[in-house]
Amino acid sequence: MKKIGVLTRDCAGINAAIRAVVRTAAFHGIEVLGIIKGYEGLIDHELVELDKRSVSGILNRGGTILKTARAKRFLTEEGQNQAVKTIAENNIDGLIVIGGNGSLTGTHILATEYNIPVIGIPATIDNDINGVEMSIGADSAINVAVEALDKIRDTATSLERVFVVEVMGRGCGYIALQVALAGGCEEVLIPEKETAMAKICADIVEGSRQGKKSWIVIVAEGSAKGSDVAETIVKKTGLETRLTVLGYIQRGGVPTAFDRLLAARMGSYAVEILKDGQTDMCVGYTDKKLITIPLAQAIQPKKIDYERDYRLIKILT
Ligand code: F6P
Repeated sequence: MKKIGVLTRDCAGINAAIRAVVRTAAFHGIEVLGIIKGYEGLIDHELVELDKRSVSGILNRGGTILKTARAKRFLTEEGQNQAVKTIAENNIDGLIVIGGNGSLTGTHILATEYNIPVIGIPATIDNDINGVEMSIGADSAINVAVEALDKIRDTATSLERVFVVEVMGRGCGYIALQVALAGGCEEVLIPEKETAMAKICADIVEGSRQGKKSWIVIVAEGSAKGSDVAETIVKKTGLETRLTVLGYIQRGGVPTAFDRLLAARMGSYAVEILKDGQTDMCVGYTDKKLITIPLAQAIQPKKIDYERDYRLIKILT
């Protein structure tokens, strides 16, 4: 293997993973081409040479130095053919893709339909890659959200209000659950579990009757709109309620040490196994061990075991 390509999505820790890929490749005498703007750059032939010096000083930077985009064109056969042409014209022997479900689905297509050697590295704040304990970016997102929650709780307590805090998590309640537990929140709504607003409101009314003064309700964006939840609480409880949507602040920023460690380990491992002839696999780090799972399995919906944490949230509040 003489030359590999690397393309990414966006979240904290991705630059650390790019660095690990580039430096491990350099260690093995393999050249690296960075693909600008994800699959868009692969279609449009936008590439940049990455040597080990070009990734200096990026370890602690959020986002991706390669930039990224949602590439609708890659969903078409024409776009895919164009991307494969770019790979061939640049003598790319294998591709490493660092991203979430959508990116890794594209990676699996390149392997199965076009016979391109590929390895995926899970990187998404949603932490919804099946078979992988932690994706790069999730820990950083949770830490950002918990820091924000601590501040919100100050105001909730001082003004004796209900706060609804919407966190990211399109189809997965992982961030919401972890944040609710780490932040000592009273209620959490996740896409995996149907929660009756009537019950939440009744619990708030009962708590208020017993002298409780403030609440924080976490809403995963995939379960409901934070604004609708806040409106219902006002209507049903009559309590003063405010909404905060944390949004994209959870995706950017300085990666935590945990995410940098994941990025270093998984980034380096991805290069090693690609070089050794593995393909159509996703790397992971589970039970303190590097693992590989077929991409076909990694892109299936991940079932999170929410019952235990959900119960704990209820007990602790
Ligand atoms: O998949 C990660 C994620 O941040 C989700 O939590 C969120 O719904 C989505 O991406 C937002 O996507 P975009 O960057 O295209 O707005």
